[in-house]
Amino acid sequence: METLTYSHNAQAAQILAAYYETPPLAYVHSYGCQQNVNDGEKLRGVLMDVGFGICDNVEQADLILFNTCAVREHAEQRVFGNIGALKKLKQSNPRLIIGVCGCMAQQPHIVEKLRQSYPYVDLVFGVDGIDRLPAMLAQRISRGKRYLETPASRNAVVEELPIRRDSGFRAWLPIMYGCDNFCTYCIVPYVRGRERSREPEAILAEFRELVTKGYKEITLLGQNVNSYGKGLSRAIDFADLVNLLCEVEGDYQIRFMTSHPKDASRKLLDTIAAQPHLCKHIHLPVQSGSDRLLKEMNRHYTVAQYLELVDYARQQIPGVTFSSDIIVGFPGETEEDFEKTLELVRKVGYMQLFTFIYSKRSGTKAAELPDPTTHAEKAARMERLLKTQDEIAFAAVAAMAGQTVRVLVEAAGRTPGTVNGRLDNNLVVEFPADETLIGSWATVRLTGSRAALLVGTLCNVEGE
Ligand code: SAH
Ligand code: SF4
Ligand code: F3S
Repeated sequence: METLTYSHNAQAAQILAAYYETPPLAYVHSYGCQQNVNDGEKLRGVLMDVGFGICDNVEQADLILFNTCAVREHAEQRVFGNIGALKKLKQSNPRLIIGVCGCMAQQPHIVEKLRQSYPYVDLVFGVDGIDRLPAMLAQRISRGKRYLETPASRNAVVEELPIRRDSGFRAWLPIMYGCDNFCTYCIVPYVRGRERSREPEAILAEFRELVTKGYKEITLLGQNVNSYGKGLSRAIDFADLVNLLCEVEGDYQIRFMTSHPKDASRKLLDTIAAQPHLCKHIHLPVQSGSDRLLKEMNRHYTVAQYLELVDYARQQIPGVTFSSDIIVGFPGETEEDFEKTLELVRKVGYMQLFTFIYSKRSGTKAAELPDPTTHAEKAARMERLLKTQDEIAFAAVAAMAGQTVRVLVEAAGRTPGTVNGRLDNNLVVEFPADETLIGSWATVRLTGSRAALLVGTLCNVEGE
């Protein structure tokens, strides 16, 4: 694997400056996971580096870029719908450049569809094009022709990309890219390529910079953070990396995702217990509660092993909470398999659950399996799952009333005059306060709950 370093493309910047009469504006929208959102922040950074300003509506934009997700069919349909809606804009402004990038554009059949059915899309490139975006734009402008890349990716990590972060107090920090797990339903390994870990020094430098700038929450990202370090010259695993980062002094908290149960180690759980900077919440996607399906999914753990891990974490980390992803209706899922999932959900008692109806992804192994269950049956199972989960989570959330907790104030609340703060355990509390508190730590007394949302009153704000 190679480490590349971004450098400013002066020639492309010149071509862009000559093409636009006034400084151009770019609209970048990212779909999908946090990794993609972080890529979107880098796409914006790179565009600013060659003279673009950033805008947040398509009507104003000189460049519209959709950074796409391929994980489920629904995500892809949404992107095609949104691209379709741009046709009129392009007709009224032929100089508008429309680009599609990211995970969808990493699939040859999607590039072909864009080539044939969306002639007004000017630029198409995959997940590996962020640093080369200025050069691609310059080529599109100077040749006056569409630029569509055949999907490929370098076996490389690009460092020092400029970035324009969405938030001034919460940041995404990728520690690795790609995935080697090939869960049979999942397209990610095909579109994101093989696992590549960043050098610990590069991660530490970015982490330090974030803490110095006052970022209070830093989320470490990877499709499977537990396999961090594979292939690096130095022997280092995820727990070692976390311990290294926690040596940086400052008032911050660390979250991470995603942790694959097959290699979430006791060492990692001990580290979470020992390090005050680490949030006491683990996103540990189980996908199914049936050993038979876990095997078919190529997940490499059993329900018993998963529960052992949860038990060990609960013993070591007082107050730890769990969240999970679950797929309903994997090919061949029987009523009995599904009931085992319900049973597991009851046993673990997740605070949050992200649930998905299985979506067939061409090119994956599961796409070859017979799938006789109707969509209506799958939807009915989904409803039962959500109902079970709501009962558990609502009760667990309600039981927290009376506690006084420290939160990071994130956003305006849904009720006017309130804000939302996130607890260490990832629950959210709504409480009356001014929006100027967003980005601060606050102490809140929990007074009750509405569904999965806690409600409370402000005790005090730190730094005031
Ligand atoms: N690397 C992470 C997940 C990335 S994708 C992990 O292993 O946990 C996020 C979630 O999307 C997955 O956990 C899974 O629940 C869901 N997912 C992935 N492929 C899917 C598919 N084909 N159909 C439905 N859900 C899917
Ligand atoms: Fe997909 Fe599995 Fe990799 Fe997660 S670990 S990205 S679910 S293949
Ligand atoms: Fe989607 Fe790509 Fe993330 S497929 S979930 S945006 S890695």
